[in-house]
Amino acid sequence: MSKIFAISNHKGGVGKTTSTVNLGAALALKGKKTLLVDLDPQANLTQSLGIKNIEISIYENLTGGKAAVPIEVKKNMYIIPSSLDLSAAEIEMSAEPGREYILKDVLSQLKQKYDYILIDCPPSLGLLTINALTAADSVLIPLQAEYLPLRGLAKLTDVIGKIKSRLNPTLDIGCVFLTQYDPRKVLNRDIAENVKEFFGEKLLNTKISSNIALAEAPSVGKDIFLYNKSCKGALDYNDLCDELIKMKVA
Ligand SMILES: Nc1ncnc2c1ncn2[C@@H]1O[C@H](COP(=O)(O)OP(=O)(O)OP(=O)(O)O)[C@@H](O)[C@H]1O
Ligand SMILES: [Mg+2]
Repeated sequence: MSKIFAISNHKGGVGKTTSTVNLGAALALKGKKTLLVDLDPQANLTQSLGIKNIEISIYENLTGGKAAVPIEVKKNMYIIPSSLDLSAAEIEMSAEPGREYILKDVLSQLKQKYDYILIDCPPSLGLLTINALTAADSVLIPLQAEYLPLRGLAKLTDVIGKIKSRLNPTLDIGCVFLTQYDPRKVLNRDIAENVKEFFGEKLLNTKISSNIALAEAPSVGKDIFLYNKSCKGALDYNDLCDELIKMKVA
């Protein structure tokens, strides 16, 4: 039975997709069978892994078409890709009874086959994200250590609280972790302290450094361990994975 994580933050560009790819790759390297679900119409996760010629995407799954067969990316790592069609899915899904539970239903048929399912959410709190939070056991929140990303956090925790009370009573904030972190920047250090006050133990000690290799790897369709396994970004995502396992989040 798998554990399902929604990688979510409605602020754009905070590292959701980068974290989904590279946490997924770290879990796969540790022998865990991992399924990545690209729930963003931007399809950045799909593109980051160099997946092309998509016949069936998550869109068809959500709108009652064919069931996707996850694509094997590498040993232990699979993906259900996204496509631009997904931008229409929210409108089509909104008329369905039980519209918040559609992804949960889709994943219930796949749960037995994977150790972990990681859902890359879009930068919004719309119906796609609500579906992810309804299907998930835990939310993992990547956060850039700057002022504006911090401002949106109360809204996110509010939505998570509402979904927990109305749709998914076992939903939990698994962790918050800082991304694109540069310890030389005073602002980054100050924000880290604020986040610690707000989230306490939920804030991971592991911080994902600002590391150019993490931005380069998607251009060749690779995760960071295949691109450069000894760079700082790879070491950080491996540490993040270890800390999640140690904290029994993963
Ligand atoms: N630790 C990092 N160091 C350097 N660049 C990074 C790092 N993490 C992410 N990036 C780059 O920052 C940009 C935004 O990252 P990413 O796409 O993962 O964010 P996102 O939250 O998924 O964005 P969106 O909200 O648009 O889905 C990308 O170009 C990515 O390559
Ligand atoms: Mg993204």
